[in-house]
Amino acid sequence: MNKLVAGNWKMNGSLAANAALLGELASSGVAGVECAVCVPYPYLAQARALLDGGVLMLGAQDVSEYAVGAYTGEVSGAMLAEFGCRYAIVGHSERRALFGEDDAAVGRKAAAALAAGLTPIVCVGETLAEREGGVTLAVLERQLDAVAAVLGREALAGVVLAYEPVWAIGSGRSASIGQVGEAHAGIRAWLREHCARPADVPILYGGSVKPENAAELFSVDEVDGGLIGGASLVANDFLAICRAA
Ligand code: G3P
Repeated sequence: MNKLVAGNWKMNGSLAANAALLGELASSGVAGVECAVCVPYPYLAQARALLDGGVLMLGAQDVSEYAVGAYTGEVSGAMLAEFGCRYAIVGHSERRALFGEDDAAVGRKAAAALAAGLTPIVCVGETLAEREGGVTLAVLERQLDAVAAVLGREALAGVVLAYEPVWAIGSGRSASIGQVGEAHAGIRAWLREHCARPADVPILYGGSVKPENAAELFSVDEVDGGLIGGASLVANDFLAICRAA
């Protein structure tokens, strides 16, 4: 499979800053790597217009588990699809920690994304306390089991997974290649048990990926690309990471 590098802008951007960043990204395609930007909802229309006809794909950072109706503040998968989204991140650790999303809700959001024709990028990852407690793989399995319980073996083959150790996010301290290798191997083994086509599911790594460490991280077995936070806001850094993939 081609590697996938997705930028997660989080709650950053402005019309002017986005125009500059997307202008630079859109004019420089990276061969053999699929690249995407997951932008805040209000900027989807702007990003769609600026990326029109190019190779850079568009995504959102969340999606409602509901399809339509009286859900104030929610944005449905169909709405995202209508704005040209190919991807929707679900279960990012910031949403789990700050907005009360539990494992089951992440599963329902993944299902809602798939139902709307989007590819969910399902994030899993352990906290520092969980890593130090030696329960990393158990935490990943618990998070993944909840998604499998909603999707089932067939639909699971349509997702992208992202391993993002919480302690590596925005900390400047990425996981070591040994830690990444172990987690990704564990996730692939879990897929072999629970997914109809385990080799079809890309497993991204996220957490302090920078131009300096991207090539090494992407060379680890079972790392199929990256989910990039801070560095995706700087055109040259994001492009360098895409090229490293
Ligand atoms: O979703 C990407 C993310 O959480 C990683 O952020 O800033 O450590 O690359 P960052």
